[in-house]
Amino acid sequence: MSKLLEVLGTKHPIIQGPIGHLNDPKMVAAVCEAGAFGMLALGFITDLEKIGQMVAQVKDLTDKPFGANLMIAMNPNNDAILELLAEAGVKTVTTSAGSPKKIYPKIKELGMKVLHVGLAAPLAAKAAEAGADGVVVSGAESGGLRTTGPESSNLILIPLVCDMVDVPVVAAGGIADRRGFQAARALGAEGVQIGTAFLASEESPASQAWKEAIVGCSDGGTTLLPLGGMAMRTIINKKLGELMASGADLDKEYEMGNAGKAWSTGDFDLFPAGGGQISALIKGIRPVRDIIEDMVS
Ligand SMILES: Cc1cc2nc3c(=O)[nH]c(=O)nc-3n(C[C@H](O)[C@H](O)[C@H](O)COP(=O)(O)O)c2cc1C
Repeated sequence: MSKLLEVLGTKHPIIQGPIGHLNDPKMVAAVCEAGAFGMLALGFITDLEKIGQMVAQVKDLTDKPFGANLMIAMNPNNDAILELLAEAGVKTVTTSAGSPKKIYPKIKELGMKVLHVGLAAPLAAKAAEAGADGVVVSGAESGGLRTTGPESSNLILIPLVCDMVDVPVVAAGGIADRRGFQAARALGAEGVQIGTAFLASEESPASQAWKEAIVGCSDGGTTLLPLGGMAMRTIINKKLGELMASGADLDKEYEMGNAGKAWSTGDFDLFPAGGGQISALIKGIRPVRDIIEDMVS
């Protein structure tokens, strides 16, 4: 058994990527039941009662292992959340957006395993030094929040990080099918984290409009939207395309705070749909089990 499968406790080395506040215990359980590692996205959720309910719902639906993502710098309740998760029997979590040193002593004290998500090689190496049991390395093609600086894509980043760390490496970004899964493994990753492809799945709680925006995206159809010092990879729609062509200052045109409303209502003029470059390869809305089975076939 690979080290990563030991850490995850799953059949397949595939992790469900967290997507903002978007959670559905049914989806987490569906991912687990298909042999992959389902995760709750707890990065921004501070309400312990709500988290407890979601954890209980996942446990009602599956007896397979599942985890949660914590965003280190974004959530003041991480210590209490970790205690709740450990009490519920969650054995492995992922961390992102912040320094692992701040939170790892607590995770270790609770006897849990942890993978850290890094967007660049030095950050992945630092996380391994800080005691991460694995690193999730997210290349420039990924969906989600990015830096505004220069970034490498996974073809470069994965082998770079594999040469730097002794813990399992998971590739996040640009993977939706068997070809991407095998390519990531050929580069040295033991597993993959899937964001956009699961976001557009049948079980995903994302709005139908959001899923259709992903399926409708073509080659070169995403851009990094600047958001006050950070950037979000988004799907270019008519309004965003026109703003880009006019040379407008995109930072002044959109507010991150509107993303949740826009994505749930399909009002992508308010804020464009989030999605990775891989959207161009996603051709339909499919059950997570089909996506996973194709990937490992
Ligand atoms: C709309 C969107 C929101 C995301 N939000 C988060 C988040 O809150 N925390 C996080 O660690 N990663 C987040 N991600 C990153 C995913 O978990 C995953 O690593 C990434 O999407 C992988 O790239 P892919 O989209 O090409 O599969 C987000 C991704 C997307 C598309």
